Amino acid sequence: MTMGKTKGRVFSGARPTGRQHLGNYLGAIQNYIALQEDYECVYCIVDLHALTTVETTQELRQNTYEMALDWLAAGIRPEDAIIFVQSHVPEVTELHTILSMVVPLGKLTDLPTFKEKVRQHPNNINYGLVGYPVLMAADIILYKADTVPVGVDQAPHIEFTREVVRSFNYRYQTNVLVEPNMKATAVPKVMGIDGQNKMSKSLDNHIELAATPEETTQRVMQMVTDPQRVRRTDPGNPDVCNVFSMHKIFSTPEQVAEIDVECRRAGIGCVQCKQLYAKNLNTNLAPFRQRRAEFDQKPDQVWDILHAGRDRAKVIASQTMREVRQAIGLAE
Ligand code: TRP
Repeated sequence: MTMGKTKGRVFSGARPTGRQHLGNYLGAIQNYIALQEDYECVYCIVDLHALTTVETTQELRQNTYEMALDWLAAGIRPEDAIIFVQSHVPEVTELHTILSMVVPLGKLTDLPTFKEKVRQHPNNINYGLVGYPVLMAADIILYKADTVPVGVDQAPHIEFTREVVRSFNYRYQTNVLVEPNMKATAVPKVMGIDGQNKMSKSLDNHIELAATPEETTQRVMQMVTDPQRVRRTDPGNPDVCNVFSMHKIFSTPEQVAEIDVECRRAGIGCVQCKQLYAKNLNTNLAPFRQRRAEFDQKPDQVWDILHAGRDRAKVIASQTMREVRQAIGLAE
């Protein structure tokens, strides 16, 4: 780990969902990249968490690879941050078992995130799903992270992790476990092309970072704009327009100012506005796509990076486990 990262250790995890989309980039990846400047960062592809809900594991390996490619091409630096695959460091499952003894079952079944999963997967409420937050706590605790950047939906899991740390430290009269803080990611809510739902792969309303310029343009042209604006001659309202909020991110301040004025007086139509967004988005993503293609030429190198990350992660993990076993009094 490079010196001078004085702010502490960051850990974050994401399930291997394959090719990442704009929502993943603006909501998480961009933030992961920025945090590398001041923190020791550990970024994990949580394939064991994915097992709680996936129907088939056939695509798991490929999805892990694709996500790693996106992270690397976007600017996560493996010579600096640790990037690795959760299941490559099995200590996390041992810690999961140990931590589960200080977790009251009712606390898990009361979590809003658990209730939501039950709604989504009523026919697959497995034991692992109940223990999902314990495994997440084990991730954070194993790597002794003090800072966890996640979306607000994960707030209950961070609070849960803090409680687990306190319960463990109290029960075994120790201070080996570190209580983490949540770093809520201040990001615009990225809507899907339907303009109604959050961008997500499962709703197929997303734009992949790795899409071709043609695919990107095609998806952008399908985006829903101000629903009140029906005819080309109707004035539009950029404040409620999904395309306008993306212009604010990917277009120049001059272009944003001009669209703001012209849309309101029907000087520019939605088609033209989207064409400009598609063009700017493609220009912005071009260097990323170039780097991604280069990594993709050498898949072995990508796996080597993940394996090197595993080795560095293991050093931290085995040290924590030694301390945990000692604190409990397990036989050496
Ligand atoms: N539960 C997180 C999510 O669904 C993923 C995750 C697993 C995670 N382990 C973590 C996030 C540890 C932060 C830290 O998004």
